[in-house]
Amino acid sequence: MTAPFGRRAAAVIARETHGAYVVIRAQDPAASVPRPGQFYMLASAERWGGGEGERPFLPRAFSVLRASHGELHFLIEDVGPGTNRLCELGPGEELLLVGPLGNGFTAPRDGRKPLLVGGGVGIAPLAIWQDELEPQAPALLGFRDAAHAAGAGLLSRATVATDDGSIGHHGLVTELLEDELDERGEALEVYACGPPAMLEAVRAACVRREVPAQLALESGMACGFGACFGCVVPTVDGYVRLCVDGPVLEAGRLGTALALAGSGH
Ligand SMILES: Cc1cc2nc3c(=O)[nH]c(=O)nc-3n(C[C@H](O)[C@H](O)[C@H](O)COP(=O)(O)OP(=O)(O)OC[C@H]3O[C@@H](n4cnc5c(N)ncnc54)[C@H](O)[C@@H]3O)c2cc1C
Ligand code: FES
Repeated sequence: MTAPFGRRAAAVIARETHGAYVVIRAQDPAASVPRPGQFYMLASAERWGGGEGERPFLPRAFSVLRASHGELHFLIEDVGPGTNRLCELGPGEELLLVGPLGNGFTAPRDGRKPLLVGGGVGIAPLAIWQDELEPQAPALLGFRDAAHAAGAGLLSRATVATDDGSIGHHGLVTELLEDELDERGEALEVYACGPPAMLEAVRAACVRREVPAQLALESGMACGFGACFGCVVPTVDGYVRLCVDGPVLEAGRLGTALALAGSGH
């Protein structure tokens, strides 16, 4: 396995908050052009673990939210020490990054129309994909509450569901998906990213109706380029390394989207 081109320092040029989420914008010196659904391994240049009694952290995986003219945007939810540190970064600091990595989304087949389905911070790869799709694809987005639903403003044509009913449909985003599939499933290709339980509901609903679906999955990743085997997930034809064979996999390749070690946030 060949390591991808080198880790590099990208200057942070902006930090924005969108409700419960933070968006970090950085200028990539390699001006990489990621495909929607690809990801980067990120670390901060300063104070990335290694404090008193601490070891340095491994880099963490993040989908690219948007990219243009060498600028990369990442959507981050503070769920642990790594994301906590990344959420603090502001202009004048540096992000260490490797990427773009993995395989992203592919165009809808057989003239089907794309439908985006996102849960929580899983909306990130759908934003860059929506930017590329013409005309813009509708999105069904689920969040736990109003603070998280502020992330829906990062996409257009979004129908929102919240667990607590504070905004939009009171219930699961997959309930909205079931309605869409019943109405026009034969014309759709589904693109989804979110927590494992949501992705499993998307997988089962699409497979049951023979609607093609591409799922952007997560698993614990240590290297991001195929060397450590930390990210393996089961498929119907054996284990695959999610970082090089995914993170986007066809729903039909999975027996379940639930059994992904280290996934979910
Ligand atoms: C391809 C890919 C793309 C991703 N894209 C994004 C993105 O766009 N935005 C984003 O915010 N995240 C994204 N993630 C997820 C992110 O990489 C992980 O959540 C990362 O591990 C967070 O690092 P951390 O140090 O903050 O938290 P960690 O310490 O790694 O903890 C992560 C989560 O696991 C829980 N946890 C930790 N240890 C345990 C344990 N022993 N038992 C049970 N639970 C535990 C924590 O409570 C937390 O919810 C992506 C992951 C992958 C693989
Ligand atoms: S993260 Fe190391 S092999 Fe996939």
